[in-house]
Amino acid sequence: MKQIGLLLKALSLCLVALCLLDANHCVANDGEGKTLKDAYNGKFLIGVAVNTRQVDGVDSLAQSVIKQHFNAIVAENCMKSGMLQPKQGAFNFSDADKFVAFGEANNLFVTGHCLVWHSQAPRWFFTDKDGNDVSRDTLIARMKTHIQTVVGHFKGKVKGWDVVNEAIEDDGSYRQSKFYKIIGEDFIELAFRFAYEADPDCELYYNDYNMNKQGKREAVVKMVQNLQKKGIKIDGIGMQAHCTLTYPTIADEEASIEAFCRLGVKVMITELDVSVLPNPFEYNTADVNQSAEYKEKLNPYGKELPDSASQALTNRYLDLYHLFLRHKGCISRVAVWGVSDKGSWKNNFPVWGRTDYPLLFDRNYLPKPVVKKLIEAGEASK
Ligand code: XIL
Repeated sequence: MKQIGLLLKALSLCLVALCLLDANHCVANDGEGKTLKDAYNGKFLIGVAVNTRQVDGVDSLAQSVIKQHFNAIVAENCMKSGMLQPKQGAFNFSDADKFVAFGEANNLFVTGHCLVWHSQAPRWFFTDKDGNDVSRDTLIARMKTHIQTVVGHFKGKVKGWDVVNEAIEDDGSYRQSKFYKIIGEDFIELAFRFAYEADPDCELYYNDYNMNKQGKREAVVKMVQNLQKKGIKIDGIGMQAHCTLTYPTIADEEASIEAFCRLGVKVMITELDVSVLPNPFEYNTADVNQSAEYKEKLNPYGKELPDSASQALTNRYLDLYHLFLRHKGCISRVAVWGVSDKGSWKNNFPVWGRTDYPLLFDRNYLPKPVVKKLIEAGEASK
């Protein structure tokens, strides 16, 4: 038994070595040449968040997995406001341009992420030269310039934008962000109006985490209805879906998918990952402001994932994709937040320095057993 195990390990190392030699011909698929994007063709787009090293080809193995299995990409970091406009008026599009060119060259649906977000936004955005908060009018003007310059720059190339990210708390109240505190709740409709003016053909989305929570679900529905009543274009709602093995329940996630579908907008699963690690908090959240101190017991799988946990991950992903397939009529895209476990943000969030296994491809960029099962599920769904 042990020898067979060793033999399998040796074989997989050989495969990795072959991949390293010739990344573009690396057989990082399900073993039968089938791909996720083909299996879900006609159902929904299969998306992935990509980073600059992947676009540049430095991470060539990840790049070949992207080209092979995915037909939609979203920028993991390079389109956030702090990256695009680190200093007022000094736009830097170099990484974002390469990201978009990569998408175009490989015929991928390109989503921009994200125009208005409290996090990874530069400090100058909200303050004057003395460090005090700017006036409402000034912040509106800065928001308008940022949105219109960025959306205008990528007009016709970026097919959909996360216009506003994470504006609502889990209980349905507005997040007390600088945008909210300085402008008021209409910063959301203003952002959508500005984006529409810059590219009327681009799809415009609201994106948030913990969309399964009843309070957030109801507030998002109300907010979208309000935009619709005013005739402001909103095309879709993105549900981030940073999950664990047990959170959220399929029932809660489904209730939100259904509520959002009833609004007549597209629903997207935008940042899917499934953490297998203990959650240090009372309940799960993807609030980037949250962090907990490292403890050994919070990092149980430093070396490898035991079979039982790997099986649980497979089952969890299957349950989620079966849910998405039930709603394929209104779900337009399901995107995972990263290519392989190696580069996942979950290794450092909400606890820095852990070893998590939340994605579909392992640290050697090889498909986990779940990939074959997901392909079968996609193919089986009529
Ligand atoms: C994360 C990135 O993955 C990290 O690399 C970065 O350090 C922090 O942001 N919700 C979002 C994403 O909308 O933009 C966040 O991405 C994850 C949570």
